[in-house]
Parts: sequence; C-alpha cells; structure tokens
Amino acid sequence: MNLSGKAKLAGVLGWPIGHSLSPALHGFWIAEHGLDAAYVPLPVEPQHFDMALSALPRLGFSGVNITLPYKLRAFQLSDELDDAARATGSVNTVVFDGAKVLGRNTDVPGYLSSLDDAGAGQMKGKIVVVLGAGGAARGIVFGLLSRGAHQVLVVNRTRSKSDALVSFFGSPVAAIGWPDLTAALTGCDLLINATSLGMQGQSGLDIDLSHLKPSAIVSDIVYRPLETALLADARRRGHKCVEGLGMLLHQARPGFAAWFGLEPRVSPELRHHLVSVLEGAG
Ligand code: ATR
Repeated sequence: MNLSGKAKLAGVLGWPIGHSLSPALHGFWIAEHGLDAAYVPLPVEPQHFDMALSALPRLGFSGVNITLPYKLRAFQLSDELDDAARATGSVNTVVFDGAKVLGRNTDVPGYLSSLDDAGAGQMKGKIVVVLGAGGAARGIVFGLLSRGAHQVLVVNRTRSKSDALVSFFGSPVAAIGWPDLTAALTGCDLLINATSLGMQGQSGLDIDLSHLKPSAIVSDIVYRPLETALLADARRRGHKCVEGLGMLLHQARPGFAAWFGLEPRVSPELRHHLVSVLEGAG
C-alpha cells in the first residue's frame, strides 16, 4: 500500500483493541478500491480518551469507530447525534466535521441490513422475541420498531433492565419472564439472541426451539463462533438463520462511506476474508 501525504485517515478507538476486526474489515475495502487511505487501530487508555478524540480531527482524521469501553463516552462527547445513537445512548461511529464530533450508531442499520441480506428484514405485523436487554438489545429493539414490528417481547435475566427498555420504547414492547418464553416462541416470527450467551468461553443458551413455528427465523448477534449452538439447532430444525457476522460487516459501511467517499459492498469475498481472520484469531 502506497500512502501519499494526502491519504485519508480513519481508525478504531478502544482499550484494549487487539481483538478488533475493524482494521481487517476496512483494510479489505481500502485495498479492494485501491484508495489512498489508511484505517488504523488506536489503543487509548481511559484517562486519555477525551483528549485523543479531540486531537484526531486536528491530526487530519476523517473519523473513527468507537469500541469497548467508550461507546457511552463518545455519545456524551458528540456535538450531534443521529436517531439511533440517541435511542441507544451509544456511539460506534464518529465523523469529524471540522472539530465537531458527529456521533452515529451504525449497529442499528447494520443489524437491519443483516436481516435484509437473509430476506428477513420486513417487520410489518411481525412478532419478535428478543433475548437480552443490554446495549445491543436496545439498538435492535429500536431498529425493529423503526421497521414497524407489531410486537417485541423482551426476555432478560435482570428484569429491571427489560422493564427499563419497555418504559423507554412504550407499548409495542413488553417484558416477559423466562418461564413465559415457551409460550412466546409459539407465536413469534423472529427470535433474536442479543445476549452474550453462546459466545466462545461463555455458557450457552438453554432454549427449546421445538415450539417455534416452521416459518420462524432465528438470529444471533454472537459471531464467535460463527455458527452458535442456537443457530446450529435452529438450522437442524429447518429454520432460516441470520448469523452475527452480518451485523459486524454491515455496521462498518456508513463510516467507510462518510470518511472515504465511497459506498463499500458486503461481498462473499469480504465475508470469506473476515472468516479467515476470525479463524486465525482462534
Ligand atoms: P451488550 O452491549 O453487548 O448488549 P451488555 O449491555 O453487557 O452488553 O448486555 C449483555 C446482555 O447479555 C444482557 O442482557 C445480560 O443480561 P443481564 O442484563 O441480566 O446482565 C445478558 N447476559 C450476559 N451473561 C448472561 C448470563 N450468564 N445469563 C443470562 N443473561 C446474560
């Protein structure tokens, strides 16, 4: 890669940052399009985050992604927010406009695009069960409602968090307890795991999918492993599945377009590249 003195710059801010897939993802698109651009990992310790974010536009950066543990802090430091950032209280993509920080949450449209890829993005009249009530679940619920979902039933270990989600979003969203999950599965069109259960090194989800109707779609935001036990079970039973990697790939598109001026594509080649990076990372 030959960078000129005019190369466009972006990166990802986090701590630690070593496991981020974003450099591999954006690097693929930069190479694919032969851009005079660089996307770099930016490991920043917590006490330096505010200073680092304000220094980046002065260093010529067009913008950055924000990852753990800074999505809330980036939200607080943004001068302008999009609707998804406002609804989730979380910013994962920043575009600099002069010294102004424009905060966006692209996890929400990223998730919806991953549903669209599977032909599962049409939400009008649909009943959805969401497992989890953390930051990721909040974004997903916002996205489902923006697409006109009829009803969203949220199940979470900590009931106060699902109740808080219900009071934030209002009547199409209801909280149910784990004992009511079986009944909820019977009527649902889409089941989404938005918890970290099933991730490598964590315990799995213990759910009986036999109550799902055959047309129900099952989606998991966990992408390590790519095929979670939940998705494997759903696939065995003949359900259409939406894997978590799609959300990761699609959330990157708006940032890339804003920083580098080109709409990138989520292609089979990109997916293949990321899978090999993931597998290499063990
Ligand atoms: P994220 O931003 O990825 O959503 P989070 O806000 O920490 O991360 O939320 C993690 C979600 O996974 C929560 O819904 C959490 O349930 P609690 O609200 O009860 O903590 C859920 N989760 C994580 N580990 C869990 C476990 N062992 N059993 C059940 N739910 C779990």
